[in-house]
Amino acid sequence: MPKTAVKLGTIQETLLVPLWARARESEEAQPVLHDPKSREILASLDYDFSPLDGARASQLGCCVRGAQVDRWVRAFLNDFPEGTVIELGVGLNSRFERVDNGRARWFELDLPDAMDLRRQFFEDTDRRTLISGSALDDDWLAQVRAESRGPWFIASEGVLVYFHPEEVRALFARMADALPGGLFAYDSMTPLVLRHQRRHDAMRYFEAEFTWSVSNAREVEFWDDRYQILDARSFYSMLYAHPRRLPAYYRYLGPLLGAVYPPLKRAYHVNLMRLG
Ligand SMILES: C[S@@+](CC[C@H](N)C(=O)[O-])C[C@H]1O[C@@H](n2cnc3c(N)ncnc32)[C@H](O)[C@@H]1O
Repeated sequence: MPKTAVKLGTIQETLLVPLWARARESEEAQPVLHDPKSREILASLDYDFSPLDGARASQLGCCVRGAQVDRWVRAFLNDFPEGTVIELGVGLNSRFERVDNGRARWFELDLPDAMDLRRQFFEDTDRRTLISGSALDDDWLAQVRAESRGPWFIASEGVLVYFHPEEVRALFARMADALPGGLFAYDSMTPLVLRHQRRHDAMRYFEAEFTWSVSNAREVEFWDDRYQILDARSFYSMLYAHPRRLPAYYRYLGPLLGAVYPPLKRAYHVNLMRLG
C-alpha cells in the first residue's frame, strides 16, 4: 500500500505531534490514553517522525491533556447523551472513536489542507460532520446552529495557542453569543512558555510559534461576566502524576525547579469553561 503524503501549512503540520504522541502512548505498557486509530494513521503516513523519538514529555503531555478532555466529554455525554460535541482544530484526533456513545452529534473542523488529510482516514456519517474552514470565521457557528440543538461541548486542544490575543478574545465572544451555555475545553500557557518555546522537546522541530498566552489561566474569566472556569488542570501536576514515564532530566530537575520557581507549576493548563 502506498503511504499517504503529508502536505500541510506551518501551523497545520503541528497536528502530527499529538497524533504521534497518541500512537506511541498506545504502545506503552500502561498508557494514559489508548488509541489504536492513531497507530493505524501514523503507520500509513509518508512522514519522518524520527526527530520526535526523544520527546517523552510531549508524548505524555499530549496524552494526559487528551485523556482529561476525553473525561470531560464523557461526563458531558453522560448528562446529555444526545448533546453536540464540536472539535475545533481537530487535526487527526480520533476522539469520536474513543468517546462516542452512539447518540451524540459531532462536528469536526480544521483548515482545508488539514481537513483534506483527515478525510483520508475519517468520513461523514449522519451524526458526524467534517467541516473544512477556520475556527476564526463565523461559518462553522452558523452550520452548527442550523444542524444541532445543543447543548454544546467545544474542544480545542493545542489550537488557541497559535492564535493572536485579539483573535482568541473574539472567538470566545462569538461562541458565547452563538452557543450559550456551551462548555469549552481549551489549553492556555503563560508568557514563560512562550519565552522558552524553542526548548520544547517537540516544537523545536517545527516552525509554528505559540503566540497566545495569559499570565494566569483564570484571568480569562474577567473578560466577560458570562465566562466561568469550572475546572483548570495544570500540566505540571498531570505530568508529575506519572514520574516514571518522564526522562531523568524532567523527573529530578522538574520538582526542584518547581519548588524554587513556582510559576513553572502554573505555566500550562487545560481548562473547562462554561460560556454564558
Ligand atoms: C497542535 S494541532 C492539534 C490537533 C488536535 N487538536 C489534536 O489534539 O490532535 C493544532 C491544530 O489546529 C489547527 N488550526 C490552526 N489554526 C486553525 C484555524 N484557524 N481554524 C481551525 N483549525 C486550526 C491546525 O490545522 C491543527 O490541526
